[in-house]
Order: sequence, then structure tokens, then C-alpha cells
Amino acid sequence: MKAAVIYEYGGPEVFRYEEITQPEIKEDELLIEVHAASVNPVDWKQRKGNHKFFLKARFPIVPGYDVSGRIVECGKKVDRFQVGDEVYSRLTQRFGGAFAEYAVASESTIALKPKNMDHIHAAAIPLAGQTALQALRDKGGIKPGQKVMIIGAAGGVGHYALQLAKIFGAETTAVCSSGHEQLLSQLKPEHHIDYRKEDYKNGGIFYDIILDAAGVETFLSCKRILKPGGIYITTLPRLKLLCHKAISWFTKGKKVRSLLQKSSGKDLEILKDLVEEEKLSSVIDSVYPLDNVSGAHRRAEEYSTEGKIIIKIK
Ligand SMILES: NC(=O)c1ccc[n+]([C@@H]2O[C@H](COP(=O)([O-])OP(=O)(O)OC[C@H]3O[C@@H](n4cnc5c(N)ncnc54)[C@H](OP(=O)(O)O)[C@@H]3O)[C@@H](O)[C@H]2O)c1
Repeated sequence: MKAAVIYEYGGPEVFRYEEITQPEIKEDELLIEVHAASVNPVDWKQRKGNHKFFLKARFPIVPGYDVSGRIVECGKKVDRFQVGDEVYSRLTQRFGGAFAEYAVASESTIALKPKNMDHIHAAAIPLAGQTALQALRDKGGIKPGQKVMIIGAAGGVGHYALQLAKIFGAETTAVCSSGHEQLLSQLKPEHHIDYRKEDYKNGGIFYDIILDAAGVETFLSCKRILKPGGIYITTLPRLKLLCHKAISWFTKGKKVRSLLQKSSGKDLEILKDLVEEEKLSSVIDSVYPLDNVSGAHRRAEEYSTEGKIIIKIK
């Protein structure tokens, strides 16, 4: 099968496009013919070797975690899906394996693809959509009527979080640069702040939840604009978070939480239902072929995407 393979840590140029052996599945796994994959920041951070101290690569590896495609083989113990089903998943193999014609997924991490969405838009959802859902629902305990600020609202995680916060009945403030007018007019947050022109931590508005999807702030920098009992959630857990957790004991119940996305077929079913009810959609920044994952990574590393970057494979 064709795959984008890397043999060493480095820049986007380290990808090689090769014929490699198709992966084999275990009893509780499925083989997916990948029609589209999407790029997440974790892909380029791993490629650069940023995570090598806790997740060391044994090269060669095929990166990429998000896929949408068709099942071509089921392990003996798989009973919820069958060959031919169109599914999407956030892969849980060590380094993913999504940037290839075939990829292996565990049964517990897949769901049927939304019927009204093509593979390109479906592949955008798994990692970023689940992150947004788990942050707002599980870490934030979001409730109708709450004021919610999304920092990095135009990015992969942010644009799903913005839509989900509205679905949960919150009043939303989107923090992103003004270049994203098309996305803003489509997703319609109640308020928009361009962080390049305005200091959103000085607006006199107080929030129940601040989801820092871009990972550019800290609890301390945001605590002034949290309501008493308000929660700051970050997608980028850092060491100083522990220290901020201790400080939060003295901050009128204001809390700090961090999130590590968990791959869940059940959460993908929730997102699928929202897509089929036409409440949730994917914004696509750009689409690249499998032999130009390097180009997709270059674009992703600019860290200014509008929605998601896709690798179209079939
Ligand atoms: N912990 C987890 O499980 C988990 C899961 C998913 C993602 N993450 C992390 O979450 C972060 C975001 O992921 P993503 O997929 O949403 O990335 P992405 O699609 O690349 O989006 C990044 C967004 O950040 C915005 N941004 C950049 N600098 C900003 C600033 N100073 N203030 C406000 N917004 C800014 C950009 O918007 P503008 O064009 O407006 O600047 C861009 O839309 C990454 O660091 C990723 O590693 C963690």
C-alpha cells in the first residue's frame, strides 16, 4: 500500500512516499481503507521529536491519527461493525498510521461516519471534535445560559468547541484573528474578539468557562475574567499547571483543568448524531494529496488554520 513514512525526526521534508506492507489486525481490530485523514498539531510535534522523551519512535513510522473510510476486514471478536461499513476514528496505534491507504483501528474507537458528510469532512472530526466535546462536557460541566469564551476559536478544536458550546445553550465569545470572517459568519458566535487588536482579558465581561483551545494562556492570565466558580480549561497541560491548581484553592472557587483527549466510539456517535441533525459541521482549511503530507504539515505548523487540514487518499 502507499503511505507517507518517516525514518527520522525533523522538518516537513522528512516524509517519504513509499509502497509498504499492509498492516495486520488483531482479533478486536478492523482494517480501514482510508479515504481521508486529517492533520492535528500532535502529528507535527511528534515528527519534530518534541514528544520523544515520553513517546520514543521506533522508525520507520506512518503518522496521523484521524481517518474516515470503509471497513475491509474485521477481527474475529468484532461484533458491532462489518465489512463495507463507512466509519471514522481517532486511531490509537502508537503513532497512528492514518497517512496511508489502509489503517488499523480498535472497535471501541470507531463509529459509523455521519451519513450526510463526505469522508473529507468526517476525517476532520475525530481528534479535534472529541477534544472539544470532552473539554466542555467533562471538564467544564457546561450548562445552558453560561458565558463561554473559546480562545483559538477558528482552529481545529476551537471551531468544534464553538459549535458545541452553542448546542449546549451557552453564550459564546470567539477569540480569533479577523482573517476568519467566513468561519465566523458560518458559525455565528454571539461575540467575536480579535486578539491581535483587543485585549480580551480586559473587556469587563466575566465567563463561566474559558476553553483555551489554542493553549496560549494560563489560569493566572485568565483568572481575572472568570466568574467566581468559573473554570479555565487548557488543551496544553504544562508543568506550571500543578502550581496553578494549588493557587486556585485561594481564588473564590475559580478552577483550572487540563484535558487529554480519550478515543471513544461513543463520543464519535454523539458527534455523528449532531452532524446528522445538521447542528455540527466541519470547516476545511485545505486539502492535500497523500504524496504531499509535507505541504500539509507546513501549513499546519503556521498555526493559523481555519478549521482542519485534510489528506485526501481515495
Ligand atoms: N490535550 C489534548 O488532548 C489535545 C487535543 C487536541 C489538541 N491539543 C492541542 O491544542 C492546540 C490546538 O489544536 P488545534 O487542532 O485546534 O490546532 P490548529 O487547528 O492548528 O489551530 C490553531 C489555532 O490557534 C489560533 N491561534 C494561534 N495563536 C493564537 C493566539 N495567540 N491567540 C488566539 N488564538 C491563536 C489560530 O487562529 P488565528 O489564525 O486566529 O491566530 C489557529 O486557528 C494544539 O497545541 C494541540 O496540540 C491538545
